[in-house]
Amino acid sequence: MPLGKFITLEGMEGAGKSTNLAYLCSMLDAQGLVYTVTREPGGTPLAEEIRRLLLAPREEKMVPLCELLLVFAARAQHIEAVILPALKRGEWVISDRFTDATFAYQGAGRELGTARVNELEQFVQGELRPDLTLFLDVPLDIGMQRVAKRGELDRFEREQSEFFQRVRAAYLARIEADPERFIHIDASRELSIVQSEIAKAAGELMKNTKQA
Ligand SMILES: Nc1ncnc2c1ncn2[C@@H]1O[C@H](COP(=O)(O)OP(=O)(O)OP(=O)(O)O)[C@@H](O)[C@H]1O
Ligand SMILES: [Mg+2]
Repeated sequence: MPLGKFITLEGMEGAGKSTNLAYLCSMLDAQGLVYTVTREPGGTPLAEEIRRLLLAPREEKMVPLCELLLVFAARAQHIEAVILPALKRGEWVISDRFTDATFAYQGAGRELGTARVNELEQFVQGELRPDLTLFLDVPLDIGMQRVAKRGELDRFEREQSEFFQRVRAAYLARIEADPERFIHIDASRELSIVQSEIAKAAGELMKNTKQA
């Protein structure tokens, strides 16, 4: 039986996913745990090429179904080449975004609906689901202010606020439907406070893993 756990970080633009992922890794390091850190879309050279296709602003409008299928194409590669091998080696896997983002951005943001994403999730992932998902919640304006400092906006960051309202509502609905898996963190607060909540959640999971 693999001992590694699969943790995902979710949240909207500038919520602090990448920042807190680095913090989570430092916690695992401190415990001497072996882990693989990765991200979606992406995580393998091929999947990173698909990521570029997804994020680059372009003249031709990418239809929502094309976007959804590209996300899952990248995910199929990522799961088979990176996530499952790492879990089978007993490593922890920490991913910056995973399928909750697809429910939020493609299912709700692009209005493709939950049913289609559910079907693809089953088809591509089989039984694979995260053990723990940290949802970092910030008001859109704060997140966008944080992201704006980075310069050029990607294809998603250029969306209108109605799009992001649908995205956030979908994340909240998923948390409500599966409260065991999610930790909902108010990430508009000071980083040290956000990190103390992350430490608590990840600490519980580590403790339970050792006892198991
Ligand atoms: N709690 C916080 N308070 C203040 N600033 C923060 C906080 N968390 C993150 N930041 C800062 O906000 C910026 C965006 O953070 P980060 O890149 O981690 O977000 P992200 O969720 O990964 O964004 P993206 O969706 O664009 O990948 C960074 O400059 C980071 O230092
Ligand atoms: Mg990031």
